[in-house]
Amino acid sequence: MQANNIQPANRIGTVEEYYFSIKLKELDKLRKEGKPIINMGIGNPDLPPAPEVLAELNKQSSAENNHGYQSYVGIPELREAMTSWYKTYYQVDINPANEVLPLMGSKEGIMHITLAFVNPGDGVLVPNPGYPTYASVSKIAEANLIHYDLDENNNWLPNLDELEKQDLSKVKLMWINYPNMPTGANADNKFFEQIIAFGKKHNIVIVNDNPYSFILNDSQKSILNIEGAKDIAIELNSLSKSHNMAGWRVGMAVSNPEFIQYILRVKSNMDSGMFKPLQLATVKALELDKDWYKTVNAEYLQRRMLVHEIMDLLECDYDLNQTGMFVWARIPEQYKNSGELSDEILYGCDVFITPGFIFGDKGKQYIRISLCTNQTVLQEAKQRIKTLKN
Ligand SMILES: Cc1ncc(COP(=O)(O)O)c(C=O)c1O
Repeated sequence: MQANNIQPANRIGTVEEYYFSIKLKELDKLRKEGKPIINMGIGNPDLPPAPEVLAELNKQSSAENNHGYQSYVGIPELREAMTSWYKTYYQVDINPANEVLPLMGSKEGIMHITLAFVNPGDGVLVPNPGYPTYASVSKIAEANLIHYDLDENNNWLPNLDELEKQDLSKVKLMWINYPNMPTGANADNKFFEQIIAFGKKHNIVIVNDNPYSFILNDSQKSILNIEGAKDIAIELNSLSKSHNMAGWRVGMAVSNPEFIQYILRVKSNMDSGMFKPLQLATVKALELDKDWYKTVNAEYLQRRMLVHEIMDLLECDYDLNQTGMFVWARIPEQYKNSGELSDEILYGCDVFITPGFIFGDKGKQYIRISLCTNQTVLQEAKQRIKTLKN
């Protein structure tokens, strides 16, 4: 029963609760009913952060003077560490004083950037399929949401010639995300050059959301590596996946000083800095050497082989060269859409697989399995699916 006559703001009607927020509640309910649910849906790393990172967090949390509010722009040590990380792995030069802004995860950056650049009615280009937050945040900001299609036949890259045919005069922002989630596709420098030229030609801010570049990917790429990219592009990055620190909420925005200032103007009115021990421990994480990434990836590689076997049992087609933390696969034609297959597996053998439709209608013939499940559990899931299918 409604306790009063208060209605939420209209913008609440434009978005729904995040799919995984609803789905996790359903999976919890099924577990409480005694079902042995295996969740292969969400990209939430189960592996721990590096021991030295945890030790630093413990040490710094025990210090008495580390518990106050922190600077809005992150401590200098953190900005320096982010800068060196970009130099080492992406060969990008950043001024730590004003070209990098630590964030509480890259997800919050999507909101800050949108609020910093987009007026109600401005156009925002959002990939289909794509990470759902780009679209929902655009709706909350009352932007004019313009989906652009990603197609398997174009290696899941935007078709810029098609986009050029549209009226782009009111478009302010374009979201891209390479290495791509959910498709696992990668972009090369040629594409990054083209998209930067496209952004400059049409005065569209290009944002590359880049949290997956260290997962099952041979060479890390940043859009900011392209000459002149910083003039028009912003890159979001994150330690959630690369360092198994998703719950810590640490990410960063990198761009030119002016753009960073706009983002800061929004962000500094929303939070009051990041817990200092967490920032200092993040510095340790960013200083880890290449062996860290190798060890993490060795495990993901084993898991991916098992997930391929599961996809084979489901008669799904996939590209062996995908990057990132998921396997994205086309479902057999007998299914009208991925929801049908996902429900069959969930209710038939208590295994949850993400249906691709949640990433947009171009994903409806695909499913996505996360590599954030250990090998024993993946074996169990495989066994259950095999039994169901026989
Ligand atoms: C494409 C993409 N962008 C951003 C995020 C958010 O990551 P973070 O934990 O850094 O907020 C995710 C998380 O799943 C993602 O898949």
